[in-house]
Amino acid sequence: MVKLSKRLQTIAEKVHIGEKVADIGTDHGLLPIFLYENAISPFVVLVDINEGPLEKARENISRYTKNQTFDLRLGSGLEPLKVGEVDVVVIAGMGGLLMCEILQKDLQKTKSYGKLVLQPRNAPEKLRKWLLLHGFQITDEVLVEEGRFLCEIIVAQPIESADVLSKEQIDYMETMLELEVNPILFEKRDPLLPAYIRNKIRIEQTILKEIVSGVGDASHQRCKEANRRICLLIEKMKHMEVESD
Ligand SMILES: C[S@@+](CC[C@H](N)C(=O)[O-])C[C@H]1O[C@@H](n2cnc3c(N)ncnc32)[C@H](O)[C@@H]1O
Repeated sequence: MVKLSKRLQTIAEKVHIGEKVADIGTDHGLLPIFLYENAISPFVVLVDINEGPLEKARENISRYTKNQTFDLRLGSGLEPLKVGEVDVVVIAGMGGLLMCEILQKDLQKTKSYGKLVLQPRNAPEKLRKWLLLHGFQITDEVLVEEGRFLCEIIVAQPIESADVLSKEQIDYMETMLELEVNPILFEKRDPLLPAYIRNKIRIEQTILKEIVSGVGDASHQRCKEANRRICLLIEKMKHMEVESD
């Protein structure tokens, strides 16, 4: 029986029983194998841009299942999928900007899938911004520890154009760092949120130290911005402490 890492397990928990799933950039294929073998998904598609990972997925299929009829497709992003073919598209372990590119390629097609489960390796704030600007609502988010990293698992769903936030609303969220620390994490009292915010404060403090020691970008503007961000992040920490009292 295939066993998933905590990260992949948490992604699997975002898929509901009966939902058809495509795993884009599947590599080892463990997630779709798990979803199918545990009777969570009746239909899974494994997509990868490289033949090597698909070969690895084939080996895992032979190792972990008796079912040899898994649907493996070679290609980039959503290209190997038909419009509306699955309920859920999972993209995990790729850069956030690459994910935006994949989702942007054919927006109408992207919106034909009811749910996106995304785990970016970096630039999550850019991915969140892209989602909000392009007619998706972020309906859920959870943090997961993997080694010494904290990963964000973002669930998004297409929404009616009338419900799309305005550019001004999204810009305001960006200024308030709500694209970097999703308010949903506060609502859900994510247990990893304090560590997540502390980590962001540390990054800004390192930038400040580098500016002071003459190593980093010494602009007054960057210094002011780092200070502003630290203050906002500390406010968020305080808000969280008050909430949990
Ligand atoms: C780091 S692995 C992630 C594997 C798995 N999704 C996970 O989270 O454990 C990234 C995989 O994405 C594939 N990949 C990169 N760009 C892609 C694209 N445009 N379309 C499909 N697959 C892609 C790579 O070949 C690689 O197998």
